[in-house]
Amino acid sequence: MTSTPFSALTQDQLDQELLTDFETMSAFGATPAGGVDREAMTAPDVEQRRWMKSWLEERGFTVEYDRVGNQFALLELVPGAPYVLLGSHMDSQPLGGKFDGAYGVLAGAEAAWRLARKFAETGHTPKYNLGVVNWFNEEGSRFQPSMMGSSVYTGKMDADLALKTADLSGITVAEALEAGGCLGTGSGPEAAAYAEIHIEQGRILEDTDTTIGLVEATWAAQKYHFIVHGEQSHTGSTVIADREDALLGASHLVIAAREIADSFAPAVHTSVGQMVILPNSPVVVAREVRVHLDMRSANEDLVKKADELLHERMAEIEKTANVRIEKDTAHAWGLLPYDERGVELSRSVAEELGLSSRNIMTVAGHDSTNMKDVVPSVMLFVPSVEGISHNEGEYTKPEDMCAGVNLFTRVAERLLEG
Ligand code: GLV
Ligand code: MN
Ligand code: MN
Ligand code: MN
Repeated sequence: MTSTPFSALTQDQLDQELLTDFETMSAFGATPAGGVDREAMTAPDVEQRRWMKSWLEERGFTVEYDRVGNQFALLELVPGAPYVLLGSHMDSQPLGGKFDGAYGVLAGAEAAWRLARKFAETGHTPKYNLGVVNWFNEEGSRFQPSMMGSSVYTGKMDADLALKTADLSGITVAEALEAGGCLGTGSGPEAAAYAEIHIEQGRILEDTDTTIGLVEATWAAQKYHFIVHGEQSHTGSTVIADREDALLGASHLVIAAREIADSFAPAVHTSVGQMVILPNSPVVVAREVRVHLDMRSANEDLVKKADELLHERMAEIEKTANVRIEKDTAHAWGLLPYDERGVELSRSVAEELGLSSRNIMTVAGHDSTNMKDVVPSVMLFVPSVEGISHNEGEYTKPEDMCAGVNLFTRVAERLLEG
């Protein structure tokens, strides 16, 4: 930390602070291919949270955890006032990219630190308090569903249900948070507004040579959890007509999901991303397969139609593969717009800074998808090279990272004035 007054720092010095800190944080869970492997409450996630905690504490923020492991760093400027929260998530997918989420938490921390220094120097008191948040388990890879921390914070998910959720090895969220020293109490600070910046994870900004995406809505999503029930038997000796092959049924589901997406192309996206096969042994016909299917569209009617088709296909598959399919909707959200005022505010800040911007939808879910339903929220994107994400090759150019944080800082400053 330098002792140079904030107003004397050059843009280059501010950019350097950001890029150096990003490099430091990307070392937690770094993979040889340039990504990170930092699933919720694994050792690298815990270590990175500790690093973020000391970074913020050294700068005068008070760090606390709520009952579901959301990490808040608070700077009380106006006693008793609610907080403008800036943040995202630092957990990653297995073998994921280092920008997804982590960039947004660091952007929040850097913006908050810039504003804290500015207020300290000018003696200005804003209307609201300033907070940074690192939401617990946004990715939902180790513990489902995704966006767990912000779902509990916003009252969309019961805290006890979240705490009881177990990973594939039976470790619960409560146990993992306790072991990581991240299990707090209470339901977090009161928010006045929320802002998040994230990489696009798509190619629209790059294809249109735009620096800033102003998110106006999230695609609707349905995430299904199927259990295909069959009967365990010998892969060699069981007569074909007698087989109740759960993996055959699950495979038909994978194909059906794709055919449904193709029939609405390009408006519906679907994929099965995970299957758990029991007992998963080479000479055993699977008795049970758990299948996670993700379906999204910007058009809620199409999600409904795709869902109907999926039910028809399930009935066919049960007959042809001689299995029984059980279905749960594990997580769903509708197409709800973001507050237009946030979009317009960010557009005008982009103009002031001479940055190109455009309205955009997010296909991926973000914690702001939850937050926008309870407080005025702003969601911003910076470009992803070739749209690559949930992949170690995920990349955003340093100049775009820096431009995003400059814009984000000014947006946060405006939100702090109410
Ligand atoms: C979470 O990031 C999602 O898009 O499901
Ligand atoms: Mn993310
Ligand atoms: Mn992600
Ligand atoms: Mn996400």
